[in-house]
Amino acid sequence: MKKELIKKEYDSKIDLAKKYNKAYFDEDKPLVSDREYDLLKISILELEKKYFFLKDKYSPSANVGYKPSNKFQKINHEKPMLSLSNAFNKQDMKDFLSKISNFLNSQESNIALSSEPKIDGISASLTYKNGLLSKGLSRGDGIVGEDILQNLLTIKNIPKKIIGKNIPKILEIRGEIYIGKKDFETIKNNFANPRNAAGGSLRQKDSRETAKIPLKYFVYGFGIIEPSFFKTQIEFIEKMRDWGFSVNPLNKVVQSLDDIEKQHKLIEENRINLDYDIDGLVFKVNDLELQSRLGNTSNSPRWAIAYKFSSEKAVTKIKDIVIQVGRTGAITPVAKVEPVTVGGVVVSNATLHNEDEINRKDIRIGDVIIIQRAGDVIPQVVSVDKTKRHKKNKKYNFPTKCLCGSITKKEINLLTNKEDSVRRCIKGYECSYIAKEKLKHIVSKEAFNIDGLGKKVIDKFWDLKIIKFPSDIFKINYEKIGHLEGWGELSIKNLKKAIEKAKTVSLNRFIYSIGIRHIGQENAKILSGFFGSIKRFSLLFILSKRKKILKNLNDLDGIGDTQIKSIENFFSNLKNVEVVKLLILELNIKDFKILNKKGKFNNKSVMFTGGFDKISRSEAKVLVEDNGGKVLSTISKKLDILVVGDSKPIKKKIEKAKELKVKILNEKEWYKLNNL
Ligand code: IVH
Repeated sequence: MKKELIKKEYDSKIDLAKKYNKAYFDEDKPLVSDREYDLLKISILELEKKYFFLKDKYSPSANVGYKPSNKFQKINHEKPMLSLSNAFNKQDMKDFLSKISNFLNSQESNIALSSEPKIDGISASLTYKNGLLSKGLSRGDGIVGEDILQNLLTIKNIPKKIIGKNIPKILEIRGEIYIGKKDFETIKNNFANPRNAAGGSLRQKDSRETAKIPLKYFVYGFGIIEPSFFKTQIEFIEKMRDWGFSVNPLNKVVQSLDDIEKQHKLIEENRINLDYDIDGLVFKVNDLELQSRLGNTSNSPRWAIAYKFSSEKAVTKIKDIVIQVGRTGAITPVAKVEPVTVGGVVVSNATLHNEDEINRKDIRIGDVIIIQRAGDVIPQVVSVDKTKRHKKNKKYNFPTKCLCGSITKKEINLLTNKEDSVRRCIKGYECSYIAKEKLKHIVSKEAFNIDGLGKKVIDKFWDLKIIKFPSDIFKINYEKIGHLEGWGELSIKNLKKAIEKAKTVSLNRFIYSIGIRHIGQENAKILSGFFGSIKRFSLLFILSKRKKILKNLNDLDGIGDTQIKSIENFFSNLKNVEVVKLLILELNIKDFKILNKKGKFNNKSVMFTGGFDKISRSEAKVLVEDNGGKVLSTISKKLDILVVGDSKPIKKKIEKAKELKVKILNEKEWYKLNNL
């Protein structure tokens, strides 16, 4: 065949693929079946293989790797797939237990917990309708997952049909997909560890590729079950075993802190003998009713925690020490080390925390060091092997300037009045390093969640002056981008779409995004409940109003002096105020929404005074919020109900409520109202 003819055939196939892609991605209306698309893709790849002169940036061969493919359909989880908070020692576990008993206002210190190995794999949700596996989702961001049913169907120990008695109409189970250590040895290829390999295999577009990998599944929990008759976590797990699922044989009920420690030690010592990687134990309140009373914070349940194993260590050498600048201006020293494998992952950087840490451990370039890695966090330097120190290894002089050339300062900690150990660049958005980090935070998953604006893209757009401040994200000059390498029609269209979508944002995400120090997702949520709307939040820009508001914040659970000082500092900085104001102009910020519209406290505000007998103040507050109400901390005309607990109520408050004709309930009446 003539070259021209081959090129013509190839181009027409590429055009077709482009058309299919457009319909699929931009219009959500696939023109052909996945199978047909794959056949087209294969024929393009075959042509390219045969005729080396064929190349096109729209070719499927340009999409290498196993990045989450946009081709998986996104589906909302019926119930969010939360993550777990971590414990690292006995004290953390003690705190976990006491938080639970405080929340439940229970005197009982020995609460039954299910202890389960924490499998280091990839989580997935499986929904069975009348016993038939009919939906399979990846965790995604916890709210929206990807439809990976076809790939899950290839996993041998996942039942496709449940056989047994009393199978619920809807059964959504959750569990971990993993590759056994031995199996991993046979398929390793390019993967750093079994977890990566499991993730990669699960995201294959072609499920025949997934089928080649020996994936396995352990059930550890559930989402929706209708109807449900389970009373405890362990009962659920046992039933799953009866119904043919694999459950971990090391699951066990424990009762006390001592039991927890014993079990943790036992499993940690034996983990090496297991055929799968585990990175800790998960402890869950066994009683499902107590679980539901405890509920969740924004990211993780109050009824469960991951108790991590102590980390793995390795010996290496420091090649260099460099500094990194964070979004708050913090200057963090990082050791560049000779690559070494720690717990299956190749490590070439280790954090040195701050100047004091380097001095205390006397860490020098050229030193032989021991590093350790725990979970996904960046490895740390544990100690220096001074016997191996070369005479020429000089003491490290910590730079006093930021990478941008500006001076740095150690702040005085406003609470302790002592000098901070962290040096910070004081230039804010004027420092290119800080500005880029702030922008990366703003576009991150937890904040504006803008797909297509990854770290490298932000660096590039900043350098090219396409984006300087957060508000610029929403005023991008797309024509300019069109001239850049790697930016085709499709990627620009997708970016536009993602940015357009991000313009509508909830108040809590907005507050989190602007990056006030010490205001994480949970605090942002608390603040958004307090302010209710961006209009009220904007009062923080005005000095006189700000002072008053900050005083009131003290009443909010979870907001302490550190947060209040930090908010004050943030808004005292005029540049911050300007940046935030400009950003607000670009956005549609939704008022804080009370989730459960049909709740019995819908649009009602409740206040508590005095302590209760049966439940804690925190649980009472959650009860109101989960049922559509708002908890206030001052009495005003706006208040609907004042609940007076039996123990030490404040008389003045009751009198004032009477004066304002606010409805008053005593402890008993309050329980009755809540069917407690
Ligand atoms: S419970 C809301 N149990 O760990 C409860 N998770 O860091 C959340 N995992 O996303 C999960 N083994 O992928 C639970 N026995 C176990 C687990 C387990 C592994 C993973 C899971 C989850 C992550 C949380």
